[in-house]
Amino acid sequence: MRIEGGTPLQGCVRISGAKNAVLPILMATLLAAGEHRICNVPRLRDVETSMRLLQELGARVEREGDVLVVDTTSATGEEAPYELVKTMRASFLVLGPLLARFGYARVSLPGGCAIGARPVDLHLKGLRAMGADIKIEHGYVVARSKRLRGAHLYMDLVTVTGTENLMMAAVTAEGTTVIENAAREPEVVNLAEALNRMGARVQGAGSSTITIEGVSALRPSVQEVIPDRIECGTFMAAAAITGGDVRIEGCIPQHLQAVITKLRESGVWIETGDTWIRVRGEGRLRGVDVITMPYPGFPTDMQAQMMACMTLAHGHSVITETVFENRFMHVAELQRMGADLTIDGHSVLVRGVERLSGAPVMATDLRASASLILAGLAAQGETVLSRIYHIDRGYERIEEKLARLGAKIWRER
Ligand code: EPZ
Repeated sequence: MRIEGGTPLQGCVRISGAKNAVLPILMATLLAAGEHRICNVPRLRDVETSMRLLQELGARVEREGDVLVVDTTSATGEEAPYELVKTMRASFLVLGPLLARFGYARVSLPGGCAIGARPVDLHLKGLRAMGADIKIEHGYVVARSKRLRGAHLYMDLVTVTGTENLMMAAVTAEGTTVIENAAREPEVVNLAEALNRMGARVQGAGSSTITIEGVSALRPSVQEVIPDRIECGTFMAAAAITGGDVRIEGCIPQHLQAVITKLRESGVWIETGDTWIRVRGEGRLRGVDVITMPYPGFPTDMQAQMMACMTLAHGHSVITETVFENRFMHVAELQRMGADLTIDGHSVLVRGVERLSGAPVMATDLRASASLILAGLAAQGETVLSRIYHIDRGYERIEEKLARLGAKIWRER
């Protein structure tokens, strides 16, 4: 991706469906045989990977514009192979549904990734508590259970996909399951809504305690994916860092309270409506401190993007990452563009500089790629970002959306 920096972004951009909402909803279709229709599905590499995984499991998957039609009638409880799971960790979300529907699943352990070890021990601990027999064989989780039974689960850590996997396992379990210290992310709520439309009885999603009353069977249904709050936050940061004036349509401002608050604290002008946010950069930002936390705290998926904004702010900012142990891969690349950053354990001290200079940089993970694009939009001269397959995992046609806002950005085939 080539970017010529220095142009303030102007105009309107529409947000696509949320990657981290559509992935679990796609896996949940395995819970009920029949034809499911999922609306507002973004065109992302991770969605294509999930479609392939469902097809490997015997489902029929077709795209009709923004709708995915998924028929899981002929799906079987086979396995989620390593080559798919290693490219997309969210594949691990088939474990709960396969176990609930077929009583058997063989799913590759996801292994680590660029941002951390990302173990799945809490997923397995919860399934064992629900009566599943879980073995680890040759890098695969082999899970068996005649019928899962409801349990009172306490999550040692807040885990988004852990909460989602266990919620999906519990919907047809015998009796009631309570998940304490559950993740509260909007994507968890979207999945709970989807499950309830399929006939499940999930209550409390969005709070720390989710109660699932097991039912005998679920039926296919029509689902709607919520807008992607991280894509939205990324475009807010793009308007802020370029000193532009951007109206973001088709979003849910309520899902971005922490990001709105932080950007306002740094001097960005923000106005919100029911389904839109207007962001105007009013001169140089002020350095503010940021600590990432599970929802509703400041999202870890916005940490790299906020750091890009702070590199040009007036004064200092301390950015602390509390969710993942190695999510500072973008620091070295931003330094190559002239940012003044010092890593100290889980924190980075950002000393604001007057300008960044364009440079050849490399993407390492999805959100690091986004932060390098943001820096390139504000830097003097040209930035060339390589390994952009990372960005395509989570952003739909990002260069087209940015170019429509006036950015000088193009993709080299
Ligand atoms: C989800 O990952 C998201 N992915 C991530 O988005 C996001 O960064 C993360 O939640 C945090 O919000 C999807 O929803 C598909 P976690 P997940 O389990 O569920 C530890 C992106 O950029 N942990 O909430 O894998 C774990 O190591 C991606 O879109 C355990 O120790 O994250 C981490 O430190 C990146 N044991 C912390 O919990 C477990 O069994 C939170 O991880 C599970 C998690």
